[in-house]
Amino acid sequence: MNLLVTGGAGFIGSAFVRMVRRRRPADLVVNLDVLTYAGNLENLRELEHDPKHVFVRADIRERATVEQLIRGHRIEAIVNFAAESHVDRSIQSAAPFLDTNVGGTLSLLEAAQAVGGVRFLQVSTDEVYGSLGATGAFEETTPLAPRSPYSASKAAADCFAMAFHHTHGLDVVITRCSNNYGPYQFPEKLIPLMILNAFEGLPLPVYGDGLQVRDWIHVDDHCDAIDRALTGGKSGEVYNVGAENERPNVDVVKAILALTGHDDSLIRHVPDRPGHDRRYAMDARKAREQLGWRPQRDFAQGLAETVAWYRGNGAWAGRVRSGAYRDYYERQYGDRLARAAR
Ligand code: NAD
Ligand code: DAU
Repeated sequence: MNLLVTGGAGFIGSAFVRMVRRRRPADLVVNLDVLTYAGNLENLRELEHDPKHVFVRADIRERATVEQLIRGHRIEAIVNFAAESHVDRSIQSAAPFLDTNVGGTLSLLEAAQAVGGVRFLQVSTDEVYGSLGATGAFEETTPLAPRSPYSASKAAADCFAMAFHHTHGLDVVITRCSNNYGPYQFPEKLIPLMILNAFEGLPLPVYGDGLQVRDWIHVDDHCDAIDRALTGGKSGEVYNVGAENERPNVDVVKAILALTGHDDSLIRHVPDRPGHDRRYAMDARKAREQLGWRPQRDFAQGLAETVAWYRGNGAWAGRVRSGAYRDYYERQYGDRLARAAR
């Protein structure tokens, strides 16, 4: 299969590209990424000399470029990872989320429709369903109720993708996954931020009471589900992806402290994220039953391996945390940490 993967220099996209190249050596992967702050060619170093991996630096909003790539490489499927992906940044400034996540997805859909015969897999998120109370789990039929600018943009993108399926007959499949962790995750997200701060003995900023619940999954399990949906999913269907691994944030942070040899005194309860979703939990029975998918990774072991990966990749972490990251960190945490309760 000839694939166009967008956002393939980011955290999950690069894991997916590496997985596809390992699994199906005959497949061509054209990797289109504009390399925002979150995109990093170092994540793809092992594919540097791979003739079946073609990297193209471009924006998914450049429709003509996308169309040219689809035609030129006889692309059979597009897997769209490219996005602005961080909720806190969407609270600071929403416009880039509308531009890339909605405008960019629309550009890809139009290009796919113009060429024809292309499967379109939209990589979406559990956050489109909103926030849960103490019980229950999101199903594919749960109504969309996004509550952050990020999730609003992802829900809009999902609606456009399905609209192109129903209106234009485009072959569309959507996956919606819960929180990912693993190597190469940009340290604005909870787990790598806490790991790297703990290594340096810096305070760990937990939003609010820290009892918000996320449903964690290893990035390789997510990529396996996407690959199965790509190759075996039914057109026009949505597949939830989650590993039944709900944890309060503060428990995850404490586990990281234990793995890095610290006690809980580094925790700082800082003012909460505005509109913070309280709990996510995914019902992924459909993916299990219809795609034969099963998560393989145990959380305790996966977290320990992730901590070890960050320990062994200090140079990578040092480079991604320079300059612009420091500015972002100060904007996001400077005032919060100054007002922190222990
Ligand atoms: P990331 O921020 O690590 O990577 C995003 C990538 O997209 C980067 O390489 C960036 O350069 C690229 N990109 C951004 N704007 C672009 C544009 N206009 N044109 C081309 N490339 C562009 O994100 P991630 O955590 O790897 O998430 C990937 C996808 O998975 C996103 O669509 C996200 O919504 C979805 N998702 C993420 C999670 C998670 O826990 N991280 C869970 C479920 C779904
Ligand atoms: O659920 C899937 C989503 O998971 C993806 O769609 C998003 O792209 C991805 O960023 C992630 O969103 P979250 O907002 O859940 O992830 P984040 O790592 O930012 O935060 C996880 C939880 O930890 C959340 O409840 C907020 C909290 N948190 C986060 C940070 C960065 C803190 O308490 N302190 C922090 O410093």
